[in-house]
Amino acid sequence: MDTIAGMTDLSAPVRLNDGVSMPRIGYGTYKVGDDEAQEAVEAALAAGYRLVDTAEMYGNEVGVGRAIAGSGVPREEVFLTTKVWNDHHGADAARAALEASLERLGTDYLDLYLIHWPSPKQGLYAETFQALLKARDEGLIRSAGVSNFLPEHLERLHEATGEWPSVNQVELHPYFNQPELRAWQAERGIATESWGPLGQRTGSVLAEPAVTAAAEAHGKSPGQVVIRWHLQNGCIVIPKSSKASRIAENFDVFGFALSEAEMEAIDDLESGQRQGIDPGSNER
Ligand SMILES: NC(=O)c1ccc[n+]([C@@H]2O[C@H](COP(=O)([O-])OP(=O)(O)OC[C@H]3O[C@@H](n4cnc5c(N)ncnc54)[C@H](OP(=O)(O)O)[C@@H]3O)[C@@H](O)[C@H]2O)c1
Repeated sequence: MDTIAGMTDLSAPVRLNDGVSMPRIGYGTYKVGDDEAQEAVEAALAAGYRLVDTAEMYGNEVGVGRAIAGSGVPREEVFLTTKVWNDHHGADAARAALEASLERLGTDYLDLYLIHWPSPKQGLYAETFQALLKARDEGLIRSAGVSNFLPEHLERLHEATGEWPSVNQVELHPYFNQPELRAWQAERGIATESWGPLGQRTGSVLAEPAVTAAAEAHGKSPGQVVIRWHLQNGCIVIPKSSKASRIAENFDVFGFALSEAEMEAIDDLESGQRQGIDPGSNER
């Protein structure tokens, strides 16, 4: 039986630890080329998304910026995230990377700026985070966050600055659902944002019986069920699609609720296996 009564309104933004409001669902743009980004982001904004996730590394900031500027949606209604890449760690390099991203995006501020990876082999992520906090104080970014950080990296940021980042964007899907990290971050007021949320790198999450049974029960697609699972677990979620029909489908997740049993059945798919790089390794 569906019941949404008593549940947090998941279509409402989440309040971050710095007071900034962030939509819980956004459009992810990894592997959306600069030439297709404009059309895709326009489709996302038309479908109702108000959070767009890009990165300097994705090479599509120009197209993303053009889409926002031409969409008719006021800039202040769009929550725009980009990320500083690993070759721009350190105070001066991060500041230069931020200015270059703002230029490509055609905007004078970001809603959220993330350190893409901790890159522990460089050992510069605390200095990089300091640069983000300075940019926040100057009004160039509204919120300072990170991506792919482990608790040990987050602790170091806190020791260096006295602040926790507002968001940690990490690999998270039914095969790798990070319950300990989510709980650890919730205790410290760090919002968890799921990347790779559909688990498509595994090729099989959307075919799992726990997912397809819930999809059938609610008359929804497997993708919608998994996106809803993220939201009900308290995560911010940024699915990517290059197809306008799926972009719209992935946003249509507010008219139903998964039951506790359905949530648990999907939680049980946890395998502890990452698809991406281990952020504690020296690969990045
Ligand atoms: N911080 C990081 O290190 C990091 C790493 C990876 C990703 N990200 C961010 O997270 C976003 C999402 O992650 P992701 O792009 O890796 O993976 P994802 O959103 O989990 O999956 C995208 C894939 O799923 C397909 N898809 C989308 N909607 C679908 C649906 N309803 N049913 C079936 N298939 C569907 C897409 O194909 P079509 O395009 O053909 O529809 C695409 O192949 C990225 O775009 C990026 O913004 C961040």
